[in-house]
Amino acid sequence: MSTHHFDSVMHIPKQMYVLVLAVLFSLVAGHTAAETGKPPDPEAAKRGQKLYDQYCQSCHGTNGVGEPSIPPSLRLPGYVSAPALDDSQHAWHHSDEALARVTLEGSQRTQRMPAWKSVLSMQDALDIVAYMKSLWSARALECQGPKHMSCM
Ligand code: HEC
Repeated sequence: MSTHHFDSVMHIPKQMYVLVLAVLFSLVAGHTAAETGKPPDPEAAKRGQKLYDQYCQSCHGTNGVGEPSIPPSLRLPGYVSAPALDDSQHAWHHSDEALARVTLEGSQRTQRMPAWKSVLSMQDALDIVAYMKSLWSARALECQGPKHMSCM
């Protein structure tokens, strides 16, 4: 058997490995990093919209407008409506991580907001967060998360 193949592998310049590693790292980082306060990646938002329409829209409404609220006098005790996830309520007061966390873990307050982690990955949740953010004004985006107290 010739050693030709082995030789050619050995001759790949070191810079090449560094480059490949850098590209892989940026792909992984670009894919998982939360970007609180930054506009969403359009591709992620597109993926997120599909998931949103499939799993979330039935409660959180078309385009994230939220569930029509039920007057307290008609509500069962402890009944919680699904809030808007556009910028008309306070979804934007939360960081990307916090929104993804509620999505995956559900709400402690009500079983009406289930945990989605058996259905959705962290990446799916972040894609849905990107979709939510695509519905927000530039101002809500800029003031997203802990900053919202002092920003508006
Ligand atoms: C069966 C109805 C229902 C479905 C389906 C549902 N939710 Fe919810 N969601 C709720 C309710 C009710 C709340 C309010 C929980 C609370 O106030 O504790 C909520 C709260 C949230 C919050 C917190 C919002 C805030 O401003 O604090 C996020 C984020 C959220 N849901 C995301 C999602 C996502 C993403 C999906 C789809 C993967 C989804 N929900 C599907 C009912 C639902």
